[in-house]
Amino acid sequence: TFINVGKEPLRVLVTGAAGQIGYSLVPMIAKGMMLGQDQPIILHLLDIEPAMEALNGVKMELIDSAFPLLKGVVATTNAMEACEDVDIAIMVGGYPRKEGMERKDVMSENVSIYKDQAAALEMNAAPNCKILVVANPANTNALILKEFAPSIPEKDITCLTRLDHNRALGQISEKLNVDVSYVKNVILWGNHSSTQYPDVNHATVITDSGEKSVNELVADDQWLKTEFITTVQQRGAAIIKARKLSSAMSAASAACDHIRDWVLGTPKGTWVSMGVYSDGSYGIPSGLIYSFPVTCEKGEWSIVQGLKIDEFSREKMDATAKELIEEKAIAHSCLN
Ligand code: NAD
Ligand code: LMR
Repeated sequence: TFINVGKEPLRVLVTGAAGQIGYSLVPMIAKGMMLGQDQPIILHLLDIEPAMEALNGVKMELIDSAFPLLKGVVATTNAMEACEDVDIAIMVGGYPRKEGMERKDVMSENVSIYKDQAAALEMNAAPNCKILVVANPANTNALILKEFAPSIPEKDITCLTRLDHNRALGQISEKLNVDVSYVKNVILWGNHSSTQYPDVNHATVITDSGEKSVNELVADDQWLKTEFITTVQQRGAAIIKARKLSSAMSAASAACDHIRDWVLGTPKGTWVSMGVYSDGSYGIPSGLIYSFPVTCEKGEWSIVQGLKIDEFSREKMDATAKELIEEKAIAHSCLN
């Protein structure tokens, strides 16, 4: 007889699951790319009434894929039901921006969703549920979720800036013509918006003759201080222009990377970027969800401390913090 002696399934919520990121993300989760090849999954899929038929189609395809790790699918338009006992919550539901818009232009539609879903998570999710907000404006939606779910520990609420981090790795890899997996320790500071600051001052590349600094290898300070930064900052807009839709595959992949590293840990000597609740580190005001370099161990993230910040970086880090303070005020006014 067949005896299942493996791990207990984890329940993973994906909101906005009938949308384009959802369609890329759910097979990645069901194939073990987020939580490992030995971790059974039960998927909880939430969307809104007009998308219910499409959501049922996604559920049908998940069944048809016969994923060995997938032990169940809950597809619903009821947020309370969707949040029940979930261990991981990936919050993708909301409205994406279109060409010509900034991410904060979708603020009023999206922050009220995060206020409502905060309550559903607070009441029904498993204790220590790890939450990742993807929907834009991601940092501010995560902050609203935190403010309206006061009993959820702030260490459990994060937002996605890993896509920007990965975009920075990709640009350096292209510039130096090296395998992207040899590039590490870029930093994405601040807001997932065009004020974000991709910083390579501490980044390195593994070469045959040891680890070398990206600054030294690129040897083009002008490019690093201008085109590199704007390319990463504007990449979301460039994808929208090219695809007429916002990034989905790369966003889904980054969401998997974010949760995988958070739950299973970052490799020794490597950090990643996550939007987390600021504690005053690096002089960033507390009370914002701000992207910092973090390492993760045993399911907990901690901000990498003690990195030297030069004047150029300081200015850029403060500018993106300033935008987040403004967004927070706009979000509060949208909710009043
Ligand atoms: P999409 O429009 O294809 O899908 C969004 C889905 O959310 C739709 O199915 C919609 O019906 C659903 N939805 C709307 N309101 C909801 C609610 N209250 N509860 C549950 N579901 C709801 O959009 P997409 O391309 O999948 O993008 C989703 C979000 O992710 C957008 O806000 C987009 O800007 C953002 N995004 C963020 C990043 C990042 O790096 N942080 C990257 C890419 C996209
Ligand atoms: C992205 O960075 O690709 C997403 O946030 C979508 C967008 O609006 O840019």
